[in-house]
Amino acid sequence: MTVTPAAVTEPNQPPAPRRSLVAALATLAAVACILLVVVVLPAARSDPYTRQTLDLTGSATDGGRLFRLNCAGCHGLAAQGLVGPNLHGVDRRKNDRQLIQQVVSGRTPPMPSFQPEPQAMADLLAFLHALP
Ligand code: HEC
Repeated sequence: MTVTPAAVTEPNQPPAPRRSLVAALATLAAVACILLVVVVLPAARSDPYTRQTLDLTGSATDGGRLFRLNCAGCHGLAAQGLVGPNLHGVDRRKNDRQLIQQVVSGRTPPMPSFQPEPQAMADLLAFLHALP
């Protein structure tokens, strides 16, 4: 008859708690999933910058000034489109979060990533909304 070494060297240890370990891991995974869905995804959808920007009231006049300085080279002075697309009615194609992403992300080269202050971003949004 053979005796397992573990039983010989560690007589006081209970047998490996496999079941409860698996259950604990499953619980941990479930909690992680719930946290991801409840906390991380909404936060990613609305990061502090976006939330702060959306809480501000923008000025289309100031936004127009920023637009002529930063954006008109590609989108045209009247946002009629040049290298970049015509932006008239862009707020019907994209919601505010998507417009903010478009400006800050740099995900669609050659359009660069801009880092406007939240107020400046709110002004740009107001300008885009004011386009016919
Ligand atoms: C270097 C050129 C360039 C500059 C500068 C630029 N853009 Fe763009 N922009 C583009 C191009 C190119 C696209 C199209 C990207 C794509 O979808 O592939 C685009 C797309 C966009 C769109 C989405 C249009 C749509 O139909 O969905 C918005 C909104 C926009 N730009 C706003 C801005 C604003 C606001 C600024 C200034 C802060 C700016 N852009 C500066 C080149 C530029």
